[in-house]
Amino acid sequence: MGFRVLIADPLSEEGIAPLLESDDIHLDLGTEWTNQELLERISDYDALLVRSQTQVTRDLITKATNLKIIGRAGVGVDNIDLDAATEHGIIVINAPNGNTNSAAEHTMAMMMALSRKIPQAYLSLKNRQWDRKKYIGIELKNKTLGIIGLGRIGAEVAYRARGQRMNIIAYDPFLSEDHANKLGIKKGNIEDVYQHADFITIHTPLLKETRHLLNKQAFEAMKDGVQIINCARGGIIDEEALYEAIQAKKVAGAALDVFEEEPFYEHQLLELPEVIATPHLGASTIEAQESVAIDVSEDVIRYVHGEAVRNP
Ligand code: NAD
Ligand code: MLT
Repeated sequence: MGFRVLIADPLSEEGIAPLLESDDIHLDLGTEWTNQELLERISDYDALLVRSQTQVTRDLITKATNLKIIGRAGVGVDNIDLDAATEHGIIVINAPNGNTNSAAEHTMAMMMALSRKIPQAYLSLKNRQWDRKKYIGIELKNKTLGIIGLGRIGAEVAYRARGQRMNIIAYDPFLSEDHANKLGIKKGNIEDVYQHADFITIHTPLLKETRHLLNKQAFEAMKDGVQIINCARGGIIDEEALYEAIQAKKVAGAALDVFEEEPFYEHQLLELPEVIATPHLGASTIEAQESVAIDVSEDVIRYVHGEAVRNP
């Protein structure tokens, strides 16, 4: 039968070609399976490949008695119970580089759409309104962009925002003065970001330390009329606090790609005209999906051949 790999979330067909072409790998698609079916059948597999939909819980891992490797076709591994995987001796790999560009481009698209109220104006026009006064925006040029988390995506956003002639201040506990100088940005602490930024974009992982990082106190410390972009993870923003800050006109607008609970079909934040949103599309480009699927596929093949994996 060979090494049995289950793909539980939709992955790029081109990206999984290396697995399909490999003689010692047997591939199954479980993208239409229910959670119950996944729990019942997971013990048949040596490897499990997911994106962000499938929750790889302790319960699932406990039932996965033959599982050796979990591959996450993307960056964030917050949908995988890493402690449970480690306890069961299962390796977790991800694809940290393949969607960096797409996520950075999506962040810029969201910031520009937010500053010029493009989704709101489009919706109004679709509803047969020609309203030029209501949709006056602000320019990005000479505004300050605060970046929280200056890793792969944060740095790419900084590079692009400089092209928009924005001033950039970034907070990241691991950011050196030297690296900030090379990027042509200012290094600050989180209070500096809150105090100076006209736009704030978040690019940290969702961790214990970053859960509800943007909370009531944080919004209070920001400039009046600040605009927020989150293409990182739901949960980093306290959504209730954001709702209140927008109602109080402290925050002028928010562009959100990610939410605490996903998927959803009703959300109180979407009732606010100041909020624009996409359904977790940051990495949803043909290029990124192909690239992350290739990265995890190749790592699985390396594992099967007894070689060291690249992205443990
Ligand atoms: P990365 O690991 O390269 O960068 C994360 C940075 O956050 C690191 O430099 C780290 O030092 C910093 N950081 C950690 N804790 C921090 C804190 N408390 N305050 C400030 N900075 C902190 O990750 P990345 O590839 O740039 O991805 C960033 C985020 O974007 C992740 O949450 C990832 O899951 C998410 N993401 C979302 C999408 C999407 O579809 N919307 C796509 C790709 C990545
Ligand atoms: C990631 O962390 O890579 C993104 O959330 C993209 C995805 O969901 O695949």
